[in-house]
Amino acid sequence: MKDVYILAIESSCDETSVAIVKNGCDVVSLAINTQIDTHKKYGGVVPEIASRMHTEAITVVLEDCLDKAGMQIKDVDAIAVTYAPGLTGSLMVGVEAAKMLALIYNKPLIAVNHLIGHIYANNLEDKLEYPLLALIVSGGHTELLVMEDDYKFKKLGETLDDAIGEAYDKVARVIGLSYPGGPNIEKLALKGKHTYDLPKPVIDDTYDFSYSGLKSAVINLVHKESLRGNSIRKEDLAKSFQDVAIDELVRKVELAFNNTGLNTLVIAGGVSANKYLKEEMEKVCHKHNVKLLIPRLLYCTDNAAMIGAAAYPKYLKKEFSDYSLNVCSRVDIV
Ligand code: KG4
Ligand code: ZN
Repeated sequence: MKDVYILAIESSCDETSVAIVKNGCDVVSLAINTQIDTHKKYGGVVPEIASRMHTEAITVVLEDCLDKAGMQIKDVDAIAVTYAPGLTGSLMVGVEAAKMLALIYNKPLIAVNHLIGHIYANNLEDKLEYPLLALIVSGGHTELLVMEDDYKFKKLGETLDDAIGEAYDKVARVIGLSYPGGPNIEKLALKGKHTYDLPKPVIDDTYDFSYSGLKSAVINLVHKESLRGNSIRKEDLAKSFQDVAIDELVRKVELAFNNTGLNTLVIAGGVSANKYLKEEMEKVCHKHNVKLLIPRLLYCTDNAAMIGAAAYPKYLKKEFSDYSLNVCSRVDIV
């Protein structure tokens, strides 16, 4: 079969990224422009600034990607783009750019769900073999799914309130760490001990998650200690929080191993960049003889290569979108 080259665009949050991916698994080139340094000043992503910066960056990032690949747009077989979920204004920049390129160069247009993109990031490392368990841990989502085949999902459970990444970011903020909180908490936790007694999410036998109680417990503890004039051992609090947050993921994954008998686990989304999460998942997967896939760091956080990977099965099935494609800030996988 002829090789398939997909040019993919991702702009759902604060990264403008363009990639060319061959056959859904080989990254020919990847360009990313991150806005983190700008949003850091505000303690989080400011949607209006994000969309303006995407507009400024998109053509530069596109040219950078094409230069790195030594290719032209006419050489690719399709244009893929993240259309949901994410920040409306940010998504619109990518979707409008993709529609324009598809129209001008007469290429099929493929709409990709960002979260499904995170799952397919694993296909850039090792071929996904179904059925498998997929754990999504990002800034906006915490979900456990069974993936029976390409684009065939069954949801086991999801967070009932905050996403794990959101809890990391809010805890980081309250202890004075900059945005994005996840990597900073991880760094600080390396120097700390688990000394603070934080509440574990309700112990039950469903696959649902809850992170707002844990987050609020940290916030209340910090406020109480500051009212009493006591200082916080930030590194110990970071370690105590991280242990409880990750332990909850491990517990639910283990429940799913026992109940489903599935023997592959893929982890997807920004929080999968966390080394402690990786170590703990390696332990539980080893115990249950389960194959574990976590993307390399570059593909854990937002990037367009994962969108190119997720677009490939749609290309093979000719699941194309027309120019009425619109963005959607919230959408479920199933
Ligand atoms: O997938 P992602 O880049 O964007 C969304 O789709 O949401 O995930 C961003 C989230 C943020 O909450 C960030 O704090 C978290 O991933 N994150 C981490 C780490 N790196 C990023 N959380 C914990 N440890 C990390 N090393
Ligand atoms: Zn993401």
